Amino acid sequence: QRLLHDALPGAEVLIVANREPYIHIRTGQKVTVQTPASGLVSALEPVMRACGGTWIAHGSGNADRETVDRNDKIAVPPQDPAYTLRRIWLTDEEQDGYYYGLANEGLWPLCHIAFVRPTFREEDWHAYEIVNERFADAVAQEARTEDPIVLVQDYHFALAPRMIRERLPRATIITFWHIPWPNAETFGICPWKERIIEGLLGSTILGFHTQFHCNNFFETVDRYVESRIDRERATVTLGGHETMVRPYPISIEWPPRALASQPPVETCRAEVRRDLGLPPDIKLAVGIERFDYTKGLLDRMKAVDALLTSTPSWKGHFVFVQVAAPTRSKLFAYSNLQNEAEALVEEINQRHGEGDYKPILLIVRHHEHDEVFKLFRAADLCIVSSLHDGMNLVAKEFVAARDDEQGVLVLSSFTGASREMSEALIVNPYHAQEMAQAIETALSMPAQEQRERIRVMRQQVQERNVYRWAGRMLLDAAQVRQRQRILDIGN
Ligand code: G6P
Repeated sequence: QRLLHDALPGAEVLIVANREPYIHIRTGQKVTVQTPASGLVSALEPVMRACGGTWIAHGSGNADRETVDRNDKIAVPPQDPAYTLRRIWLTDEEQDGYYYGLANEGLWPLCHIAFVRPTFREEDWHAYEIVNERFADAVAQEARTEDPIVLVQDYHFALAPRMIRERLPRATIITFWHIPWPNAETFGICPWKERIIEGLLGSTILGFHTQFHCNNFFETVDRYVESRIDRERATVTLGGHETMVRPYPISIEWPPRALASQPPVETCRAEVRRDLGLPPDIKLAVGIERFDYTKGLLDRMKAVDALLTSTPSWKGHFVFVQVAAPTRSKLFAYSNLQNEAEALVEEINQRHGEGDYKPILLIVRHHEHDEVFKLFRAADLCIVSSLHDGMNLVAKEFVAARDDEQGVLVLSSFTGASREMSEALIVNPYHAQEMAQAIETALSMPAQEQRERIRVMRQQVQERNVYRWAGRMLLDAAQVRQRQRILDIGN
């Protein structure tokens, strides 16, 4: 945390992100505050609490939107204000085109190899351009200095870096792409590929989770735009402007706040089993994420099916609890997934269930951080079976939640996290039998082996926490700013 203050004394920090960290919802006279299920939010929120500044996001709650003056700024976190949240109120048409359309029907499937066909519509692209402009305008309005540090987040804002550069030429723009970057050929599907690349190259620093994604980006730039790429220095120069392209693996805060309020593991185990109506000694596997087709939810259910088919003695002794937070449900690919998942659970439960015993529990609702941590602490294993994922912070949160050094992580090899967490049981989520075997191994793993594995992973998450993620980007930014200052003096 100190690093953040020390590296850039006095610098102003602004974030541009689609999601707001706190959603204010009014029902009658009462305003409640929700925190969204988003890896991006869980990573950046602690950083903003530490360094202060302004977070500019799409206003997704109704509370202040409906007031007469449409209050667009509010101090957050609600209990202990540390920075400003500036909401941009998007129209329904803007939201449909920019968020549901271009971002989530176009770029999201384009960048994840999950076999959902990307859809690109001209009108969505226009909305995307307009919304990117609105956010760039907001940055220019909110900035109090001519050289702020602007943190642009994710695939919702590929055009914003260039637009911000036009408005504030001296800004240090750090853009982080939270999802994978595909190979050049795949990216070539996007009708506006050159515009997206040029937009991103307005950044001072462009970050991805892994070196692999940086390499894919270099190849994409090489194929589609006239620029100079220096692989050794990891830079791209376009129109005289240089962008550094580096991997910065994202992480979680350490120590995790949600851990502070947790009862002992034994209590979590007992309470969660009681609340779910399960016998006290049953083995429990959990999966927790947004209800997204990239997460491989159906695949892990099929693995549970395969396990109970090959080893029926687990029936009655093992339950898999999937918590899935509704997300982007307006899109067919998402509502359809929910229907498919419900039908599959029903089918598997009929095949292997008996009396009160159901092998899979599917809970579709939003969970707050404390509840998620409690579930992690109650579990014997956690399954992360993404078909493709930039990093995946659920994997890191699970090991962070286990200060008892017990619990096994089954982790897809197609997550960025699997590059760092090799002590997990690494699986190919497309292979049901392999995943079933890993679940079986996890269920019978001796306590000592669990301890050895999770200890290494916890240590790793502790050291490479989110402050280090942000700190490394800001240190690189500090170097660039220093170089710029020297050039200014020379001129
Ligand atoms: C992914 C994206 C984030 C996004 C999150 C939640 O992690 O990379 O940008 O915040 O999903 O998605 P949502 O569409 O609900 O904001």
